[in-house]
Order: sequence, then structure tokens, then C-alpha cells
Amino acid sequence: MLGAMTLTQESLQRALDARADLIHDLASELTTCYRLFHGAVEGRPGLTIDRYGPVFLAQTWDEKLSDAELKVFLDAAGDLTPVYNHRAKPVDFEAHFPMEPIEAVGDELGMTYDVRPRHRGQDPLLFLDFRAARRRVRLEARGRSVLNLFAYTCSMGQIAHSADASHVLNIDFASSALDVGRANVPRNHPGAGTLEFFQSDCLPALWQLAGKSLPRRRARAPYIEPQEFDIVVLDPPRLSKSRFGTVDVVGDYPTLLKPCVQICGAGGHLLATNHVPSVNLDDWIAVVRRTVEKAERRIEALEILAPEADFPSFDGSHPLKMVWLTLD
Ligand SMILES: C[S@@+](CC[C@H](N)C(=O)[O-])C[C@H]1O[C@@H](n2cnc3c(N)ncnc32)[C@H](O)[C@@H]1O
Repeated sequence: MLGAMTLTQESLQRALDARADLIHDLASELTTCYRLFHGAVEGRPGLTIDRYGPVFLAQTWDEKLSDAELKVFLDAAGDLTPVYNHRAKPVDFEAHFPMEPIEAVGDELGMTYDVRPRHRGQDPLLFLDFRAARRRVRLEARGRSVLNLFAYTCSMGQIAHSADASHVLNIDFASSALDVGRANVPRNHPGAGTLEFFQSDCLPALWQLAGKSLPRRRARAPYIEPQEFDIVVLDPPRLSKSRFGTVDVVGDYPTLLKPCVQICGAGGHLLATNHVPSVNLDDWIAVVRRTVEKAERRIEALEILAPEADFPSFDGSHPLKMVWLTLD
């Protein structure tokens, strides 16, 4: 049984010991970015500690680190640069340290990414629990076209490109996120295919890719030709509103998924995710199955991907749910 819900030297050491084999394996494949302490499961809800290359990053969402916890964290940093981001809203910059900007790049699966712990947004530039999906796409991308929706900093698009995808299209409406992706290109193996960054709302982009014309009043979205892809990656945020509509993965997953099914070529793959902890995996898979059926396609294979072992769970049910579909 876990003791008090605080970070202690013992609880951190337990987490490090539990990851010893994983960290050894990750090091052998040149990965320097991973979770070291997953507080929700390892004894301190609202706290995570990650390694991002040279950075040792603590993040809290509710309770700030106490002085005693801060000491445990700093003592454990070793050669890494400790950074603490307290992410409760409104953002309390007083709790952050150090305040000066820190440049950092980190490696994962042989790729190099910008992992600066301080930038315009609050989220780290690389989502570590999505590694299992990036690993899968790396395996499958060679010679295939890949659509990366809600691309953020385009780490998924980059790994597909470096794995010699024939074409990669990253779409996100945030130019600052796409800029991070562009800056990562020269850090990595130049793939054999083409790599494109398209700044757009994903909703009108998806409608156009699926061959539908835009409603008149919304006609100002950037134009994109209808096309199919061999691999479609759909990793949306929980909720996002724009003048084109609402992305709501709890209330309306099919609106997003249906056009993705339509533009996934025959024998192609669709990687879909749902990050919302309260959404049950089986219920969400049932929605996915129904949506594919309504789009008049057939699922040839359905595989559930789980985050890797640096993201432990109590009972195998992870907040991040990922499914890899093969469509007829
Ligand atoms: C959770 S992140 C996605 C993570 C990403 N798939 C990855 O591999 O790191 C959410 C992203 O969705 C983008 N976004 C949210 N709503 C959008 C919309 N309607 N159209 C385009 N991008 C959107 C945000 O700018 C943000 O970059």
C-alpha cells in the first residue's frame, strides 16, 4: 500500500527501480525522453516527473510541491537540469523555476526533437505517452502516405517522414506548433518522400479531403484537394471550438472519425485516440465500430495500443486510449 500522498525519496526510488529495465531498453534505442514518476499511480496525484533529454521536469496540476518534495526532486536530478512547472490556472509563475529560457533537444526512437520545457504553451512539446503510436507508425510508414491530424509539433509526421513515408501531411491550426515541427526537420534523417505542413482548422480540411464542398459562409478555409491516405492519424484534443464547429471527443467522436474513414485508402490504417480519462475503452471502441460501419467500410483488424511501461496504470485502463485499425 502506498503511504502518504507525497513525493518522498522512497516513492521516487520505487518508481525508478520499476523502470530500470525499460530505461535500459530505451537507452539502447537512443531514447532520452520518458516518464520517471507517474504520480496518479505511483503515490502523488497531480505530479509527474519526466526526463526530456538534458531536462528533469516536474509538473504539478493541483498542489504545488512542498519544500520537502522540492528537495527530493532536486536531489534526484543528478546531471540533468531541474525544471519545475506548476500548471494550475491561473498560471502561478512564482512557483516556476528556473525562470530563464532553457534550450533543450531530446531523443526518442532515434529521432531528435525540440523539448524546451518553457515556450508559449503549457504542454511539453513532445507527448511521451504517444510513443507507442509513434513506434507503430515508424514500423508501418515506409512507402505509404500519412495524414497527421491535430499534428501539434508534428513528431508523428517527422517519424513517418524519416521512416521513408511516400508523403506526410501535417495539419494543425496553430502556426507556432507547426513551426516547432519545421525546425525539427534538419535535426533528423531526411526521408525519401515529401513532408508538408498545412496550417488549417482540421474540420474544413477533413471535409475537403473527403471531397465535400465547404458551406458557403465557411468558404474561407485554405483549399486542399480531395485525396486518400494509406495511414490516417487522428489524435484530437478533448474539446476545441472554432468558427468551423466543435471538436468534442466525448459528445461527438463520429464527426471527426467518419471523414477519416472515408479518406483512408483500401487496406489502409487508421490510428485513432481518445485522451479523456472518463471515457471507457469498450464504449469508445463501440462508437468507433459503429462509425466505420456507417461509413460503409469494414474493419479487417482492430488492435488496441497501450502506452509503454513508463505510464503504469492500476488496472490496465489508461487515460490515453489508442486503436490501430486496418480497413478493407
Ligand atoms: C493534444 S494536441 C495533439 C497532439 C499531437 N497529435 C501529437 O502527436 O503530439 C492538440 C492539437 O490540436 C490542435 N487543434 C485543436 N483544435 C484544432 C482544430 N479544430 N483544427 C486544427 N488543429 C486543432 C492544437 O493546436 C494542438 O496542436
